[in-house]
Amino acid sequence: MLVHREVHRLRDALAPSRREGCAISFVPTMGYLHDGHAALIRRAAQLGRRVVVSVFVNPLQFGPNEDYERYPRDEERDSRVAREAGATDLWFPDAADLTPPGLMICVDPGPMARVLCGKSRPGHFRGVCTIVAKLFHIVQPNVAVFGWKDAQQLVIIRKMAADLDFPVRVEALETVREPDGLAMSSRNTYLSADERQRAVWLSRALFEVRDMAESGREWRCRVLEKHAAALITQRGLARLDYVRVVSLDDLQPLRTVAPGKTLVAAAAWFGRTRLIDNVRL
Ligand code: PAF
Repeated sequence: MLVHREVHRLRDALAPSRREGCAISFVPTMGYLHDGHAALIRRAAQLGRRVVVSVFVNPLQFGPNEDYERYPRDEERDSRVAREAGATDLWFPDAADLTPPGLMICVDPGPMARVLCGKSRPGHFRGVCTIVAKLFHIVQPNVAVFGWKDAQQLVIIRKMAADLDFPVRVEALETVREPDGLAMSSRNTYLSADERQRAVWLSRALFEVRDMAESGREWRCRVLEKHAAALITQRGLARLDYVRVVSLDDLQPLRTVAPGKTLVAAAAWFGRTRLIDNVRL
């Protein structure tokens, strides 16, 4: 596995593969890689001969009072996980290249960035799209692999790639979960033992709602939202940010479940840690 830092070195290293027509697959990450990332990298390795993984904690997607400073960072761990999962190129971009002081032009992700997480994290998806656009331009992958764990991010990036004509296929992979159902996330490391036990109610609530929706009875989405919210706050003792049942097409609220086109997304605080999760119906 080659390790790169400067943009020009990564570009030079990929150029021969591009000339020879080898597919380049790409997994952008913020590091502190876990089994969820490893699954994305393994999928990327099935899709391309060159498998590029980037590790960059993107300051543009963090709000002023968020966890940019304390976000976990560990290059040794990232190198090990990336190599074992089949990465051929691990790239630790320089902040000076990706977020130089004069950076002025950003990607406006539109209305889908103003709902769900976008409501409580204004500017977050603008920061995500701007950096992902830069990463796509630099790596020029044939395919990029993202996780359903960040469903809103995935839907917005797919739309960005389509609307702005990026010649990249955006592939999505199922959320990887701990044995008790908690979605894997680098932020799980922040949880105390007690918070970790309670955090399982985020996924449990979503699974219950999925079971209800799949029971054959027609539920109003408001009822499903209320049921999940009660479990997360009363059993998980969490501070709820939101639970919403929305359309997978445009992330707008639904009145009743549209089978195959519905996302139930939730975010909640366990102590100082904000976790997100979702299921599709
Ligand atoms: O999902 C992430 O880790 C980040 O949002 C991404 C896509 C790497 C952009 O910084």
